[in-house]
Parts: sequence; structure tokens; C-alpha cells
Amino acid sequence: MKAIRTGATPSTLDALVFCDVDGPPEPAAGEITVALKATSLNYHDYAVVTGMIPSQQGRIPMSDGAGVVTAVGDGVTEFSVGDPVVSTFFPDWLDGAPPKTGFTRVPGDGIDGYAREAVTAPASSFTRVPKSYSHAEAATLTCAGLTAWRALFVDNSVKPGDTVLVQGSGGVSVFALQFAKAAGATVIATSSSGEKLERLRDLGADHLINYREVEEWGAKAHELTGAYGVDCVVEVGGAGTLGQSMVAACVGGHVALIGVLAGFAGPVQTGLLMAKNLRVQGLTVGSRRHQLDMIAGIDANGIRPEISDNFPLERLAAAFRHQESGAHFGKIAVEI
Ligand SMILES: NC(=O)c1ccc[n+]([C@@H]2O[C@H](COP(=O)([O-])OP(=O)(O)OC[C@H]3O[C@@H](n4cnc5c(N)ncnc54)[C@H](OP(=O)(O)O)[C@@H]3O)[C@@H](O)[C@H]2O)c1
Repeated sequence: MKAIRTGATPSTLDALVFCDVDGPPEPAAGEITVALKATSLNYHDYAVVTGMIPSQQGRIPMSDGAGVVTAVGDGVTEFSVGDPVVSTFFPDWLDGAPPKTGFTRVPGDGIDGYAREAVTAPASSFTRVPKSYSHAEAATLTCAGLTAWRALFVDNSVKPGDTVLVQGSGGVSVFALQFAKAAGATVIATSSSGEKLERLRDLGADHLINYREVEEWGAKAHELTGAYGVDCVVEVGGAGTLGQSMVAACVGGHVALIGVLAGFAGPVQTGLLMAKNLRVQGLTVGSRRHQLDMIAGIDANGIRPEISDNFPLERLAAAFRHQESGAHFGKIAVEI
């Protein structure tokens, strides 16, 4: 079968190879075989294939995988042949609190991922998909969808009337906007692009700020709430944006610290953190239980992912170059 492998250490986009690999084994007890039909790009995958995150040479990248069950091993009752399924981000985190042993077996990073035509894996490494979702739509949920879900509804309890601030128009942020609107929240969205801000408005954003033009966008967001402040910030920038996110937040507000697009380390206004009684909480995606809860929420609200671009598997490097350019909106899907 065909797959993509990293071809150098550290990995580079030029060294990705589209190659033949062995097909998956028959499923053992508790396992399923899945014919993979789609994956989607995340910044995490980009970090693996460009060598920012060290991984072994020959790694099959991509954390997200969606497809159809083609065989089930003994004892599997949750799935049957022909069922559409989507992968989970942490095969070892099924339920409960984050495992204290940490996260070493992320597909596409610590173990081989889903840039391939088929895989045999424990049935618990997959879940059902939302009703009537295409494979490409399902493949957007594993990382970006679940991260946004956890920020709003696991680590926070966003409710009607709350204000949520989302940064930029990438995969996590667009899901966060859609989920927050479904929960009845007011959404303040930022972007570097006027055109993308209009698309965010079309998705329901109530207030728009161009973060390139408005340097003090946190103060602007705070003002837009009537000087009350934002209840939840979906923080994907990291060091370069945290200061403004803390300015935007209300007293007792929550900053879901998700990303590092604007830097890995930097000074923190500890005085403001204390005075506002803020909760700045780091998070990494979520558990299989969280994914099932998100899928139920999507089914109940009819939310569909925003996919701006589609590439075939053999053009994965081109898909990453497109992501690198920042031209995408929401998710980039890859059809297998
Ligand atoms: N902790 C976790 O579990 C987890 C899970 C998923 C993602 N992440 C992290 O979250 C971040 C976003 O991931 P993604 O997959 O959604 O990325 P993505 O789809 O590649 O999104 C990139 C977008 O972010 C926006 N952006 C870039 N720099 C920004 C800045 N300084 N301020 C505000 N927005 C900025 C840009 O939007 P505009 O073009 O509109 O300006 C850009 O198009 C990454 O750092 C990723 O590693 C973490």
C-alpha cells in the first residue's frame, strides 16, 4: 500500500517520500483494520514534518485519520465492517484526567500516523463519526476539533451570554468559534486579514479585530465587552499573545493555553494574573471520552467543519507549504 514517510533527520518537507509500505496485519483480538480515506493538517503535524519536533526518520506522519472499518478482531463490539470511524489523538488516554505518565504515543509523532492507506490498531484508537460527515470532515476532528471542544467545555463551561475570544482563522480557532456560537456565547474573533475576518463574521463572529492593525487588541476586546472582560480566551499564539489575552480577560477569566504560533517562551505579567484572579491553563487535545462527547455535541447542533483546501496524499508536502503560507481558512484536508 502507499504511504508518506519522513526521509531525513531532522525532517524537512523536501525529504517527505511517497512510497510503498507493507499492508496492515489482520486484526488481533480487540483490534480493527481501517481503510483510511482522509487526514487533515495541524500545526503539530507541520512541526513534525519540518523537524521542529524531533521524530525518527521514516516516521509516517499525521495525527488525524478517518476511514472505513474493513475487518474486526475478536471481542470488538463497538464497530462492524463498513462503519465510518475517526482516530483519537492519544491512543492511551481513554477517559478521566490526563495520564500522569504523559503523552508519548501520539500517531504521526511518537508512533506511525495516518498518512497511509490502511492501518490495524486497537478499536479504542478510533471513535464513531458525526452523522452524515464525509471522511475529510471527520478527519478534522481528532486534533483541532477536540482541542477547541476541551478549551470551551471540559476546562471551562462556556454558556449562553459568555464572551469567548478566538485568535486567527486556523483549524482550532474556527472550531472554537463554531462551538462557542452553538453554546450561545458572544464571540470576538481576531485575524491578520480583512477578508478572513469577513469569513469569520459569516460563521457568526460578533466582533472582529485585525490583530496586525490593532496592536492593543486585548484592550480593544475588553472594551467590546462593556469593560467587563472576556470569559474564555482560546490562546493559540502563546508567548507573543498571552499578555494581550490577559488584558482581554475578565476577573476570574480563563485563558486556554493551546498554541505557540507567536513564540514558545516570554515574560508573564504576574501582577495582572494575580489581580484578575485569572486561570491560565495549558491543555493538550483530549481523551477518547471527550471526543465522543464532542461528536454528540456536533450531532445535536449540526456543526460542519470549515475546510478551505483539499490535497491528495501524494501532494502532502504541497499541502504543508500551503499551510505555511497562511492562506488557508479553518482546515486543510488530505484525501487518501
Ligand atoms: N495544545 C494542543 O492540544 C493543540 C492542539 C492543536 C493545535 N495546537 C496549537 O495551536 C496553534 C494553532 O494550531 P492550528 O492547527 O489551528 O494552526 P493553523 O490551522 O495552522 O492556524 C494558523 C493560523 O493562526 C493564526 N495566527 C498565526 N499567528 C497568530 C498570532 N500571532 N495571533 C493570532 N493568530 C495567529 C493565523 O490566522 P490569520 O491568518 O487569520 O491571521 C494563521 O492562519 C498551534 O500553535 C498548534 O501547535 C495545540
